[in-house]
Amino acid sequence: MRRLSGLLLAILLAAFCVSPVMVAVSQETEAPPKPATKKAKVKTPADAAGKDSKEAEKAAAPTRKPDVVFVPTPQDVVDKMLEMVAVQKTDLLYDLGCGDGRIVVTAAKKYGCKAIGFDIDPKRIEESKQNVEKNEVGKLVKIEHKDIFTLDLSKANVITLYLLPSLNVKLIPQLQKLKPGTRIVSHDFDMEGVEPEQEVKFTSKVDSRQHTIYLWKAPIKKEGAKAKVEKD
Ligand SMILES: C[S@@+](CC[C@H](N)C(=O)[O-])C[C@H]1O[C@@H](n2cnc3c(N)ncnc32)[C@H](O)[C@@H]1O
Repeated sequence: MRRLSGLLLAILLAAFCVSPVMVAVSQETEAPPKPATKKAKVKTPADAAGKDSKEAEKAAAPTRKPDVVFVPTPQDVVDKMLEMVAVQKTDLLYDLGCGDGRIVVTAAKKYGCKAIGFDIDPKRIEESKQNVEKNEVGKLVKIEHKDIFTLDLSKANVITLYLLPSLNVKLIPQLQKLKPGTRIVSHDFDMEGVEPEQEVKFTSKVDSRQHTIYLWKAPIKKEGAKAKVEKD
């Protein structure tokens, strides 16, 4: 009798073990899956190249003094300069000596074009970068620590200047290589020997001063430059 009841108990236990109740219980008590551990960021060659290229950029940065001190163009004069060159969304604008970055930031914000600001002074580069960040135009605007006299300007469609008359003249060889149709606009200073297409007097509400804005279109021609005489 005892053997029989033991056998019955064994059968009952076996049946209980495969019953849905037991399956559910066993699933509930299963250890929870371990959360995926955060993989350590693997340094890729691209990461390394990025670091290297930043270091290379730093090493290549100019160390000499600016050719002209920073004086900002009043904001309403910036607006007038950009209006005169009729900036388009598809343009690439270069500001040669970008100061606090106001021209490149305004061009990107107002016209949605791409722009690069170049300056030789690390302090101005810092200010320009902060200006770009503050105005959230980082997708359109780049700031580069470069000497403007070392630049290849051939990719630009618009060039903005606020330098000095002598520096504008020094830029002529680079400006002569611009793509035809590229517009050049200069605040207050002309370019001796190169006749502007337009010259506008504009009184700023910011400083109540009259400013002159000059406009040229590439290809620029130096006055007095003798046309090559074709000889046969
Ligand atoms: C008069 S500020 C004009 C700033 C800005 N474009 C504006 O209109 O408000 C001239 C700027 O040119 C920069 N600069 C002077 N010589 C330079 C050079 N050789 N290369 C690059 N930047 C230069 C100065 O640091 C300064 O920020």
